[in-house]
Amino acid sequence: MKKKVVSVILATAMVASMAMGCGGNNTASTNNGAAAADNGATTDNAADDAATEAADAGAAATEAVSGDLADKKVGVCIYQFSDNFMTLFRTELESYLISQGFSQENITIVDGANDQATQTGQIDSFIAEGVDVLIINPVNSSSAETITDKVVGAGIPLVYINREPDETEQQRWEDNNWDVTYVGCDARQSGTFQGEMIVDLGLDAVDLNGNGKVDYVMVEGDPENIDAQYRTEYSIKALEDAGWEVNCLSDQVGNWAQDQAQTIVANALGQYGTDVEVVFCNNDAMALGALQAIQSAGRTVGTDIYLVGVDALSEALENVINGTMTGTVFNDHFSQSHSAADAAINYLTGAGNEHYIGCDYIKVTQENAQETLDLVK
Ligand code: GAL
Repeated sequence: MKKKVVSVILATAMVASMAMGCGGNNTASTNNGAAAADNGATTDNAADDAATEAADAGAAATEAVSGDLADKKVGVCIYQFSDNFMTLFRTELESYLISQGFSQENITIVDGANDQATQTGQIDSFIAEGVDVLIINPVNSSSAETITDKVVGAGIPLVYINREPDETEQQRWEDNNWDVTYVGCDARQSGTFQGEMIVDLGLDAVDLNGNGKVDYVMVEGDPENIDAQYRTEYSIKALEDAGWEVNCLSDQVGNWAQDQAQTIVANALGQYGTDVEVVFCNNDAMALGALQAIQSAGRTVGTDIYLVGVDALSEALENVINGTMTGTVFNDHFSQSHSAADAAINYLTGAGNEHYIGCDYIKVTQENAQETLDLVK
């Protein structure tokens, strides 16, 4: 009971400090993603050969077990069903699992309703039921240690998705040689891409009030999420790396939600008016809310304000095509869900996995928005 009160106070303090986030040091604490990305970039021929051999071995093992996959039970925990991006992810995950030989009735996907206690109960039920593998999108990444201990203790392989556990936690998987891995993209890349899309417009176009700085509004996802932390930090870093001066007018938590972002941006536009030059949103759902606020305030994206998001939701892509959003970043739910399912299969076949499985984001501007829309539709 006491513990619960303390964590509520901590969480509240965290949200409050993030709400006043301009200039706050929002440095994220893991860097495994960069290490993984670097490793990927330096792949040489020998590594290619090894990878091919491993893939062949994996394919052979998969073939051997594929008949059995239909009998394997998969438990999937999603942090919140109402999240747009995670809806695309889980829909693709389910159909890909079926295409790989799992049977629909043995795949159970549950909604954590953005409540860790609810999700922990769901994990307990999956363990009691004796599922063969678990795919978990944690409500709180900081609960990963507890989740891992439970799942590993029950002898069930575990694939984390979307919300990256911290470095210390990932190190434990490695040190103990546990069947636990994380599948996701490096959010620093998505933040950098957002910033670069603004830099590519040129300072003259972006510095609409001519004060020599980029005056921006930041709308963040949930503060505990590494994606939110990195996108916030790296989007601005890209501007600074280009030698631009920046001025944060407002930095608020919108919890990935369209309605919350709409309110935040409406307030910021009310307070700062035409000084708002760029609105950065950590995801597209919030960018869509920001766009509603921008349009209600009589402002025009591309003319007197700029707006970027992440995910490449269809609606956001339509906006990029029409010029009502400056750009977005494709968060590839196909590759992430397929890699997560493949990782689950590799554990079931005994082929095993690395403890970090990365993927790339793709920058989307008006030039390639239609192409991306064709891909996601
Ligand atoms: C991010 C995504 C957001 C939200 C979040 C949930 O990767 O961009 O839209 O889905 O994951 O953790």
